[in-house]
Amino acid sequence: TLPRFVEVVEVGPRDGLQNEARPVPLDIKVDLIDRLSAAGFANVEAAAFVSPKWVPQMADSAAVMAQIRRRPGTVYSALVPNMKGMEAALAAGVGEVVVFSAASEAFAQKNINCSIAESIERFRPVAEAARAAGVKLRGSISVALGCPYQGEVAPSAVAEVVRRMADLGCDSIDIADTIGVGTPVRVQAVFEASAAVFPMHRLAGHFHDTYGQALANIYAALQLGVASFHASVAGLGGCPYARGATGNVATEDVLYLLQGLGVETGVDLRAVVEAGDFITRAIDRPNNSRAGKALLSK
Ligand code: HMG
Ligand code: MG
Repeated sequence: TLPRFVEVVEVGPRDGLQNEARPVPLDIKVDLIDRLSAAGFANVEAAAFVSPKWVPQMADSAAVMAQIRRRPGTVYSALVPNMKGMEAALAAGVGEVVVFSAASEAFAQKNINCSIAESIERFRPVAEAARAAGVKLRGSISVALGCPYQGEVAPSAVAEVVRRMADLGCDSIDIADTIGVGTPVRVQAVFEASAAVFPMHRLAGHFHDTYGQALANIYAALQLGVASFHASVAGLGGCPYARGATGNVATEDVLYLLQGLGVETGVDLRAVVEAGDFITRAIDRPNNSRAGKALLSK
């Protein structure tokens, strides 16, 4: 049986925009987040307190956090790679911080310039500060279904990073298919291996749709009891450290799927469709949501 309620985490403002080469104006980012808040998401990934040299598009994260209209009931989350980012995130009033590592050493080096073990050591004071501040802590594991540098990634390697993030005290942990290579049976194997060390209902699926498998992968994970998925409005995005990777699965498509399955999300699909139309026009990008395009023409 499928979960009755699924949390959809909207990551468009962060994962969807971080790879845009041209700076997205601050007021556009704020407007997008406000529209997503109004649509009813319980969690919007709004910012990344990372090095502006590595990801220039996220350099205005503090200003974004200062200007959004905060909806009661929405948690605004942000990526934090180290204590410097944590201090900025706490000052900005982030409700959930996301520490991020990888299931392969090669990807960890490219993305955060350190080994997996070093990343976990860096996250220890971040986790402590999150606990002290009463801010939620989420862990994210990149390339869990395959790595652009290493190739195959064993489910046991993913589970090992899940275990280390669980030890840090993460409230939830994201299994990320950064380059969208996963397929359903493989996805189930990775979630089952991970659930041996951390509860299934606190794991989340973060699927990029590069190979068109994301909805099938979500359905496969749902059948195991996974009840949190990440998605990006209009399917925006890419990854700066994974060449050729496309955006996250489109939020509109995920909501349409869940609606059809009778699973509640608390999110207004029509409002998300309109937010997708707004942002794709504002930054002159194609709308990569099939459901979004179909519903817009109605
Ligand atoms: P580093 O160069 O090794 O860091 O980068 P460092 O500690 O040696 O510092 C170098 C400089 O960066 C210093 O400045 C620091 O102050 C500054 P300088 O003295 O040269 O002027 N610095 C910072 N500035 C602002 N905020 C900070 C910060 N930290 C250091 N937090 C570091 C290491 C981790 C910082 C860097 O590699 C980095 O920022 N990486 C982030 C990369 C990133 O954001 N990638 C995209 C997000 S992850 C993702 O998309 C995957 C996900 O969607 C899941 C999936 O799909 O896989 C989540
Ligand atoms: Mg991602």
